[in-house]
Amino acid sequence: MKNLTLLVTFAMALLLHQKVVAKNYSGSSSCMPCHAEQYNLFVVSSHPYKLSKASDARKRQIPLPKGYNWNDISYVIGGVYKKARFLDKKGYIITSGKKGEELKTQYNLEDGTWSFYHKGEKKPYDCGRCHTTGYEKSGHQDKLEGIIGTWKFPGVQCEACHGPGAKHSLTKRPEDIIVDKSSKACGACHYRGKLESIPSSKGFIRHHEQYNSLLSGGHKKLSCTQCHNPHAKAKFGIKKSCQSCHETVAMDYKESTMEKAGVSCVECHMPKAVKSATNKGKYIGDIRAHIININTSKKEKMFYKDKTNKPFSKNFITLDFACLGCHQGRDMDWANKMTDKGIHKLGKPQ
Ligand code: HEC
Ligand code: HEC
Ligand code: HEC
Ligand code: HEC
Ligand code: HEC
Ligand code: HEC
Ligand code: HEC
Ligand code: HEC
Repeated sequence: MKNLTLLVTFAMALLLHQKVVAKNYSGSSSCMPCHAEQYNLFVVSSHPYKLSKASDARKRQIPLPKGYNWNDISYVIGGVYKKARFLDKKGYIITSGKKGEELKTQYNLEDGTWSFYHKGEKKPYDCGRCHTTGYEKSGHQDKLEGIIGTWKFPGVQCEACHGPGAKHSLTKRPEDIIVDKSSKACGACHYRGKLESIPSSKGFIRHHEQYNSLLSGGHKKLSCTQCHNPHAKAKFGIKKSCQSCHETVAMDYKESTMEKAGVSCVECHMPKAVKSATNKGKYIGDIRAHIININTSKKEKMFYKDKTNKPFSKNFITLDFACLGCHQGRDMDWANKMTDKGIHKLGKPQ
């Protein structure tokens, strides 16, 4: 009898232990010894640095808003991709100067400028579900009142996509780790608002809308991971080219005027119609669109307002964004005439 109780207690303890381990996160660096290939791509992408403790972020030499020093900062948001924002010692996003004066508090990486961000508002950091790993809505990370929710690790770590990995790290079994190749999995963070529309603002598509955009057009049946290596930076992580899936168009385009000038498929079909930090011209934002289809009408406008007067983008790229960002001296009439004749074969004998 005694032995049986002991056995039951032992078995229960073991089960409990396994349950705890199964829910446990072990951190990206713990995966490295066995998965160096994925890890090495991942550490030079921007996912892991989406949110960093001030002590880590300061090593990257990100400039601070005027008048602040590193002792005033708890966390830095981003600062590796397009822009940086800062949390104060209470966990609120900094929106003004130290004495409450008006101040630009968002740093833009590409041109070194500063922008206003919710000027003067008291702005809690309620963004953790898309910026951290093992996020939970309740509580306040590090007991900072301005931070809504808690997390296991700041930034988008391996286990943000693969789920808790402590058990798998012990067993090495594929069944103990999640692999989700669907667009929906990436779309859990790469979306904005309602999936069936594409929010815009001031003449550009609003950023982190990739899933909305993908679903809106000709690529709706593709998944993000058919094109992207999920571990790599976009620039180094495209594993399937446009040409490999669109052979006929690729043949047409080869040796055309613009192909010879070095213009690639994405320049027209995925122009920088999205803005995160800054724009370099009326039709040049800083992030590539994922809408893909182009409408060649000279009258068509890319943006519209809904019944409540909110601005959205249509589900196609108009010729201003497709052509006029590069051909700045030209207009819609010209672009429309040029596309009428079949743009892919431009300059080739008919
Ligand atoms: C001690 C070595 C070891 C560690 C540590 C480890 N893994 Fe693995 N992992 C493996 C092995 C071995 C496989 C291959 C299983 C197979 O292909 O049969 C694997 C497979 C995987 C797979 C693919 C599963 C599938 O269904 O194909 C993923 C994803 C993965 N690991 C993620 C992680 C993550 C994330 C971590 C860190 C939290 C991690 N691993 C830590 C050894 C390890
Ligand atoms: C937990 C939220 C989350 C998930 C899930 C997620 N992402 Fe991200 N992703 C982000 C954030 C946040 C950034 C911006 C990181 C930064 O700026 O530091 C980002 C940036 C990126 C970038 C740009 C990186 C660069 O430097 O070029 C690519 C590409 C990307 N994600 C692809 C994917 C793909 C593909 C998936 C699905 C396999 C995915 N993401 C899943 C949150 C997420
Ligand atoms: C943004 C989400 C995301 C992050 C972050 C991420 N993975 Fe993955 N990982 C995936 C997806 C999706 C797949 C399946 C890819 C496919 O088959 O196209 C995958 C596949 C894998 C595989 C199977 C082999 C392969 O490359 O297809 C391993 C091993 C793996 N991941 C390990 C890791 C490790 C280790 C980290 C952190 C260093 C990590 N992953 C970070 C989404 C992610
Ligand atoms: C629905 C998920 C989601 C939420 C909620 C969210 N973000 Fe993001 N954020 C992203 C993704 C994904 C990216 C990168 C892709 C992009 O910009 O298109 C990003 C990029 C950023 C960047 C640029 C990072 C860099 O390195 O350039 C900053 C800064 C940022 N977000 C701040 C915030 C703040 C502040 C909040 C809360 C008020 C917030 N985000 C809420 C998903 C989200
Ligand atoms: C993995 C394969 C694959 C890759 C890579 C791919 N496409 Fe597609 N594309 C498709 C499929 C499938 C469709 C939908 C079927 C169709 O209409 O041909 C499509 C549709 C389209 C359409 C809309 C066609 C229409 O008539 O509505 C355009 C435009 C397009 N792709 C351009 C591109 C560009 C530009 C790239 C590179 C950035 C690219 N595709 C990469 C498979 C791919
Ligand atoms: C100079 C800008 C430009 C470049 C570069 C370009 N396209 Fe297009 N593409 C267009 C326009 C404009 C249309 C719309 C044509 C129409 O509807 O009459 C289009 C239509 C398409 C379509 C749908 C109609 C069709 O012909 O099947 C596909 C698919 C496509 N492009 C793929 C590609 C691929 C793949 C590349 C690179 C090899 C490429 N495009 C390069 C401007 C461009
Ligand atoms: C048809 C292929 C294709 C699909 C499907 C696709 N992407 Fe992309 N994506 C690209 C290409 C091509 C780029 C540009 C790469 C470069 O900069 O060289 C890109 C760039 C990006 C960037 C960086 C944009 C920038 O300009 O900084 C992010 C973030 C991203 N993709 C996320 C996603 C997510 C999330 C999904 C799924 C919802 C997705 N992509 C689906 C081809 C694709
Ligand atoms: C990434 C920049 C870029 C984009 C986007 C682009 N072009 Fe071009 N285009 C060029 C370059 C570079 C040349 C070759 C140099 C030149 O003649 O100006 C060229 C040449 C041309 C020419 C032949 C020369 C001329 O001016 O008559 C035409 C016509 C043309 N493009 C039309 C278009 C149309 C229409 C679009 C949109 C559907 C477009 N281009 C999109 C860069 C671009």
